[in-house]
Amino acid sequence: MQQQQQHSFVYGGDYNPEQWPEAVWAEDVRLMREAHVNRVTVGVFSWSSLEPEEGRYDFGWLDRVMDLMHANGIGVVLATPTASPPPWFTFAHPEALPVTADGVRLVHGSRDTYSPAAPAYRDAARRIAGALAERYGRHPALTMWHVHNEYGTVSYGPETDRAFRVWLADRYGDVATLNNTWNSAFWSQSYSTFEHILAPQATQYLPNPAHLLDFKRFSADTLRDALREQVQVVRAASPGVPVTTNFMLPSWNHYDQWDFAAEIDEVSIDHYPSARDIEGETHVAFGADLARSFNQGRPWVLMEQATSLIYDYAAARLFAKEPGRLARNTLQYLARGSTGSLFFQWRSPRVGAEFFHSPMVPHVGEDSRVFREIVALGHTLTSLAEIAEPPAGGRRVNDTRVAIVWDATAWWASETRAMPSNDLAFLPAVRAVHRALWWQGINADVVSLEQDLSGYDLVLVPNKIAASDAEAAALRAFVDAGGHAAIWFFSGSTDENLNVRPGGFSGAFAPLAGIRVEEHHPLAADESIELSDGSRADAWAEDLQVTGAEVLATFTHAPLAGRPAITRNRVGAGTVHYLATRLDAAALGGHLARIVAAAGVTPDHPQAGDGVEIVRRYSGPRSYLFVFNHGERPRTVSLNGYDLLTDEHLSGDIELAPAASMVLRESALPASPPRP
Ligand code: GLA
Repeated sequence: MQQQQQHSFVYGGDYNPEQWPEAVWAEDVRLMREAHVNRVTVGVFSWSSLEPEEGRYDFGWLDRVMDLMHANGIGVVLATPTASPPPWFTFAHPEALPVTADGVRLVHGSRDTYSPAAPAYRDAARRIAGALAERYGRHPALTMWHVHNEYGTVSYGPETDRAFRVWLADRYGDVATLNNTWNSAFWSQSYSTFEHILAPQATQYLPNPAHLLDFKRFSADTLRDALREQVQVVRAASPGVPVTTNFMLPSWNHYDQWDFAAEIDEVSIDHYPSARDIEGETHVAFGADLARSFNQGRPWVLMEQATSLIYDYAAARLFAKEPGRLARNTLQYLARGSTGSLFFQWRSPRVGAEFFHSPMVPHVGEDSRVFREIVALGHTLTSLAEIAEPPAGGRRVNDTRVAIVWDATAWWASETRAMPSNDLAFLPAVRAVHRALWWQGINADVVSLEQDLSGYDLVLVPNKIAASDAEAAALRAFVDAGGHAAIWFFSGSTDENLNVRPGGFSGAFAPLAGIRVEEHHPLAADESIELSDGSRADAWAEDLQVTGAEVLATFTHAPLAGRPAITRNRVGAGTVHYLATRLDAAALGGHLARIVAAAGVTPDHPQAGDGVEIVRRYSGPRSYLFVFNHGERPRTVSLNGYDLLTDEHLSGDIELAPAASMVLRESALPASPPRP
């Protein structure tokens, strides 16, 4: 008889026993067991405890921790400590320290003090990863490798210059091609040899945007190579043990998330919403949707969240999460595919950077609201264990028919200087679209235009400044096949090297949208405009002609009064909307609702939206409906299923109190077929 596989959600956090006397470890284990903790992440930033002097290792404490965890049924996510070289590294390899864009060489004292391109750093990182892999690669407590922590260090300086030149030579072949692509002749910057090219450190006035973009690409590739080297080392020592690295979402753009995801077995994320109101809940959904998308629709790992709202270091304020919100947010992550929840961190240190960052065991100890909520949450996750099973039959963990284009190049491009407006930022544009969909109860993936789009009905393209011919062709093929698209102003105005496409802005997508954009009319920071349909907008306007599209709304302000602001082009069975301005939240919601409806996309539940979040998660052969009321007033929703949180069958109109959560096992799988 085949034995039934037991599934469970992961629950625990970053654990740094090396910062505590061993007497505390026994206390930790007692509290972990009480809280149903089954996973700890060990070793993040522990380099100086593992290798106190170059080449001399001290594994004694980690041996005891691994054995202790194993003896107590707690799996270990073992991190390589390479995000924090010890002080000896500074003295042994001063050339491998990071240099800022202003030429300042940083020294140890915090974390991430290394230049990722420096051979001495990369060698040291590979060595410590290799030593850990050799010693613990087959330890029974090991459940996952966690390479590094939040890759994101960018460095300038001689070591970087050398590596940048090699990267450029590889990309362009000869310096004439580089000069041509960058148009280096502007301001007399043509290079006669790759040897004269520097990483874009501080210069007198505006730098060349193409140079900046290539440097961002180079930096991202450097981090990817550093990741790849360590992945190879740990994989070789522990076949079958999954490898991850934690993405800092959503604000970290020092690498290309799609590239990184291709290097690892499971995507994991660190996520710290900071808003105190319902905006925090929209942010949870955003982070979770990103993580699931980067993991190709499969369950993903929430490597870090906080028990309170993130410490805002700039404002020096730590806001407490109100009672119950921690559990509600965690269930939101679960709804959207997380394999459980890990926290930064298990126990607060008595002193050290981040010593007031909220933990699972606060300074005041177990007799605390936070620890009681942690125990209750551990119990809840245990009771939901059946949902931890991956979806059967190759199904994705959530249904999503809408995709928002997520593109590192576009983000980097929007951060180069000398754009026609400061309001072309990529992340806020993506976030605004995701938020507007969330308020309508629509789940979305993010997607790259290089991926298969055939599983989606609607693809949204906000502020994708740079687009290659291949990307333009991919969107066209999607629409030709009956897909629907919406494209925001300025998208596709340049090619992938930031060279403006001649003949009309938004040139990569303009033919598909049936428009021609002749001139930009950016708005002043405090300017707001109204469109002919009553929509309010700001930031941007442009002089647009239609070449096939119909006009849905026009500008009403001079000199653009009567000129198209929102258009729709019908292409076979598909439609392509173009939005030539930045709509405010209400107008964006209204227009997206029409676009979504035209694409035939519906929420997971007809009453989802307006602060009621309802998401269907597939697990094994079943489906589960996660239901939340994030609003301030009670709401009535028609439901049918078995609530795993209260152990009762619910049927009919159910009142959801403010802050209510439900997790329903549905009676039958909904009919929609698995994705191709
Ligand atoms: C990140 C890091 C952690 C910690 C937290 C604080 O996610 O990985 O080490 O610094 O931020 O929020």
